[in-house]
Amino acid sequence: MIKTYKSIRGTYDFSPAETYLFNQIAEKARHIFALYGYDEIILPFLEEEGVFIRSVGETTDIVEKQIFRIAKRSETDSDIVLRPEGTAQVVRYYLEHALYKQSDFNKFSYIGAMFRGERPQKGRLRQFHHIGAEAMGSDSIFLDAEMISLSLKLLDEIGITERKLNINTLGCQADKEKFMSLLKKDLSARRNELCPDCQRRLLKNPLRILDCKQEHCKKIAVSFCLSETSGKTYLCKDCDSKFQELLKLFKSSNIDYVYNPCLVRGLDYYTNTVFEITSSSLGSQDAIGAGGRYNNLIKNLGGPDIPACGFALGVERVMLALNKSQAQIAPDVFIAVTGENLRDESFKMLQVLRAANVHCDMDYCAKSLKGQLRYAEKKGINFVLIVAEEEYSQGFVILKNMEASSQEKIKIGDLTEVVRGVVADGEGIA
Ligand code: HAM
Repeated sequence: MIKTYKSIRGTYDFSPAETYLFNQIAEKARHIFALYGYDEIILPFLEEEGVFIRSVGETTDIVEKQIFRIAKRSETDSDIVLRPEGTAQVVRYYLEHALYKQSDFNKFSYIGAMFRGERPQKGRLRQFHHIGAEAMGSDSIFLDAEMISLSLKLLDEIGITERKLNINTLGCQADKEKFMSLLKKDLSARRNELCPDCQRRLLKNPLRILDCKQEHCKKIAVSFCLSETSGKTYLCKDCDSKFQELLKLFKSSNIDYVYNPCLVRGLDYYTNTVFEITSSSLGSQDAIGAGGRYNNLIKNLGGPDIPACGFALGVERVMLALNKSQAQIAPDVFIAVTGENLRDESFKMLQVLRAANVHCDMDYCAKSLKGQLRYAEKKGINFVLIVAEEEYSQGFVILKNMEASSQEKIKIGDLTEVVRGVVADGEGIA
């Protein structure tokens, strides 16, 4: 028996209609990124593992459990992985090309596939796509506000109006460490109640307990975040006032938000502002986008002390939240051939119409006329050009309007002009 193949678990085949929707989303994103001054870059899928270990963090789920490693082809190869996210990679690019020397402020956008070996479920894939933006060189709270309003603007343009913006601040590195030590102190008393992974996290990186998939561990950590102890006592004056300023900016710009003191994000590089946008239509994997500040990442990856901030939307989740009936992509005109002796001439007509920018196609399967009309109807093609023996011998073809169930004879010499006319009327666009 010949083995048949299926797609890899956690990967997704986009149908033509889904690809069309994906491209429409990407096109909108590109338009808005240009409007906000973000320059698009295309970076490789492959990166050295260290880029993510030193940024996302050694004890995060992404690095500990989800990295796809590529087998070394020679002993001298570095440890290569499929990129799990874009931020650390953009910072690697920024540092490798010393872009901070060319300009003290840089804005980048990217659209591309990311890879994480997670347990697949609805909205959680092993290969998915990010639409993201990163800005390096400013610590202004107005940049945080721009990032958040940019991600909301993208969702608006795409058509997702039902969503919730969750926001929190981790404070600067010193604040974050204070927060972790308070969390560690509080949770140490309940160490035995934590799962083995979290007992380890408690020692190495207590913040990650908030990402634990075990409900009980999460509950313990959340109750700490909500408790008096954490009542933002870890925040220094400067970070607190910056956060208040950001919330004020939201109010004056009519941006609705929910302050969520338990939001820490599952990547280690964040400092200060962190945010997540959720959609209730998505079920358990409800985050459609997220981001925040990472003021120490550039320095930690060997660069100068430059503050930065960014976000990424998950395209597949955005598409799920859109829940759009699949877009029809159909040609405007279909050429129905009624005999093999007319195929040559029909093919020429097809070329002429395409050269005139008419979106058209023809039958390649020697179907009967009835079969060809049925095919055009199923595809949602409104105009069928019937090339029939008798009319053709008199210098005519028949143009059939499927929706109106009407037809007219048109002179072959007038073909392009007439067809372009009806299509331009919009009647032919599916
Ligand atoms: P993240 O939260 O890991 O952040 O990913 C951003 C978004 O990607 C999520 O909100 C979600 O919509 C989508 N996503 C994540 N994992 C999956 C998955 N397994 N399947 C489908 N969709 C997924 C980052 O990656 C940061 N780099 C965001 C950022 C940019 N922060 C600053 N700049």
